[in-house]
Amino acid sequence: MSMLKGNDVYIIGLGAVPVGEHWNRSLRDLAVQAVRAALADSGGAKPGALFVGNMLAPYLSDQEHLGALVADWSGLRGIEAVNTEAACASGGMALRQGYLAVRSGAHKAVVVLGVEKMTDSVNGCTTAGLAMAADAEYEAAVGLSFVALNALLMRRYMYEFGARKEDFAAFAINAHRNAVGNPLAMFRKPIDERTYMGAAVVADPINLMDSSPVADGAAALVLADAETAEHLCSRPVRIAASAVATDSLALQDRRRLLELDAARLSAERAFEMAGKGREEMDFLELHDAFTIMSVLSLEACGYAAKGEGFRLGSEVGRSGRLPICTMGGLKARGHPVGATGVYQALEAALQLRGDAGACQVVGARVGMTQNIGGSGATVVTHILEAV
Ligand code: COA
Repeated sequence: MSMLKGNDVYIIGLGAVPVGEHWNRSLRDLAVQAVRAALADSGGAKPGALFVGNMLAPYLSDQEHLGALVADWSGLRGIEAVNTEAACASGGMALRQGYLAVRSGAHKAVVVLGVEKMTDSVNGCTTAGLAMAADAEYEAAVGLSFVALNALLMRRYMYEFGARKEDFAAFAINAHRNAVGNPLAMFRKPIDERTYMGAAVVADPINLMDSSPVADGAAALVLADAETAEHLCSRPVRIAASAVATDSLALQDRRRLLELDAARLSAERAFEMAGKGREEMDFLELHDAFTIMSVLSLEACGYAAKGEGFRLGSEVGRSGRLPICTMGGLKARGHPVGATGVYQALEAALQLRGDAGACQVVGARVGMTQNIGGSGATVVTHILEAV
């Protein structure tokens, strides 16, 4: 396969457990299943390192030190291993670390894992744990949960740009429709505008159908250099770009409240690195933790002008002009926070291998994944390409 070149990095193995409420499975159990599945799919790669993405294990499972723990229980005792934490962008950041490790030549193959166990906690703990991604002194201390922070953004957006509640419905409907065909998705049921408008309010104006669920999950990727990929894999997916940008944790410190500067910066860096324009993306796996995040991300990445993103609802379907969240997104596939960025990359790789089944975007050759930590403070963007 002479098309694999130089110091490019490839995804050669995929493995995951379905997102959901895994009451009878422990954190390590989920992690090990995903890692072993990805290694089996890679055709026998021998990873030199494991990069784990996880946010809440120290708080909800009393467990730190996931790198060594998962390496050991996956049968990889001895290799280099570490956990990376960047709130809900922990998974995307683990992918970034794995990418850098292979790209630098330090390792020929590595495993990237995202894992989160959110459901096994006493009521209230999960919400308090998620709030740790916000600014503890200026946001969480006054009682703001993550849903509340996003509700403030959505309320302000509706006020400034005249968007109505029903304008956000298309994003939730699209996610649920796409999840129906995804065997790894948590909510495989379609919804309509009536269901959306009638859903219980969580933090006004955010209702249940604007919001991603609390979930357990684990997803893993095997990354390799060109030589290893060529040797082991008949359908590698190239990581054409990997970029991270940051912003203030607190909303009050943003340059402009309704502009996700880190999403814009990381997308711009990724487009430049891939040598591709935004219009060349065949699909986008966006961080739709809340419908307002989809809208703000589309604007930040340049797919809509400021204040116009909510008008794209009719174009984001799988066969539309701008397919987003093609396998259900965070809303309907589910959002096991530190695992989400790895699920996004796995779904993009399935699309580019032509293995997305009922969710397939016909003819997809290049796609973008964007994983957001906090309310926009860490944003990790990857561009993946079929070889
Ligand atoms: N979308 C659709 N249905 C949902 C849902 C969601 N986001 N969350 C829960 N449900 C469903 C459940 O499947 C269940 O259905 P059933 O009665 O048919 O079994 C029902 O709603 C109640 O589920 P439950 O788990 O009791 O919900 P909850 O009220 O405890 O939690 C939220 C709902 C929205 C408060 C919770 O999911 C949440 O906090 N989400 C946000 C998580 C977050 O902030 N993530 C970080 C983002 S950056």
